[in-house]
Amino acid sequence: MADSDGFQFISHKRGRKKGNTAQILPTGTEQNRDIEDLGYVQRRLEQCLVEIESCPAVGRLVLAIKDIISNQDSACSRKKPFRTELIGYGIGPFASSLPAKYHLAMLLHLRKSLNVSECLVYDPVWVSVENDILLKSDCNLIPHNEEGKRTVCQDKDTMSIFFMPHCGKALYNNLLWTNWKSTSLCRTLLIGNSFSEMALSMPDQVLKSSYMYISRVLPYTTIIDVDKSELPEEVLSSTALHVFSDKLLQTIPEDIWLQTQEPLYEDDVEIIQNIQLK
Ligand SMILES: C[S@@+](CC[C@H](N)C(=O)[O-])C[C@H]1O[C@@H](n2cnc3c(N)ncnc32)[C@H](O)[C@@H]1O
Repeated sequence: MADSDGFQFISHKRGRKKGNTAQILPTGTEQNRDIEDLGYVQRRLEQCLVEIESCPAVGRLVLAIKDIISNQDSACSRKKPFRTELIGYGIGPFASSLPAKYHLAMLLHLRKSLNVSECLVYDPVWVSVENDILLKSDCNLIPHNEEGKRTVCQDKDTMSIFFMPHCGKALYNNLLWTNWKSTSLCRTLLIGNSFSEMALSMPDQVLKSSYMYISRVLPYTTIIDVDKSELPEEVLSSTALHVFSDKLLQTIPEDIWLQTQEPLYEDDVEIIQNIQLK
């Protein structure tokens, strides 16, 4: 079903459907990756940025985020406007991959169009040439692997927007676990693989046991699908905006909030964990 803005709202009905699964590239070094020439990477990034800026689906996503931020604003009757921070995890190896270039361009576009105060990024595959480009683009590099366990800014006037394109389920699950309380989740927006597509792509029992925080929050999440047809290379495939509204979070039973055990993953190829980097 599409709304008047052209977004598709995905129902939470479960079933078995093949969905996009994240595939993680091996941790990179300049030696084992085919790094493109710096000038080429920069030129191609600029072209991607032009495409992203003129892409109607991205424009609608930006409008939807602005709308949510301003509605949240009046719902909480705040006097100060919300400050926004943007965190980009799993952008990918953009000095050798075209989809990752689009994702970096999208991050930069979101930062500009949403007037973001602080932009933080991390991907364990990045090599020095990529870190240099990010620093030149005024992105702050997160210095260590947080495994997605970043607490959202505790300042009540800040909205934290996570851009996690095609990331592993464990990364989303960790983010939810770290912020497992309504006062944190209601100030979190997540752009990433659609939780409802995930739920459709695996047995209920696996979602419940391995990615329990995704499974628990899913019925209370508003999922706004992003039209993937307007950009090449499946750049936005399975991508959705996840909104955790205060109103819906208030309906989560207390005992669900009290279940706070840290998720552990064995042999999960979709996330690079600290133990693997040692
Ligand atoms: C399927 S790839 C997606 C890359 C790119 N966004 C794309 O769609 O082509 C998943 C990305 O998640 C990154 N990743 C894995 N573990 C991570 C972690 N602990 N923190 C941040 N990113 C991580 C991988 O390095 C990889 O670049």
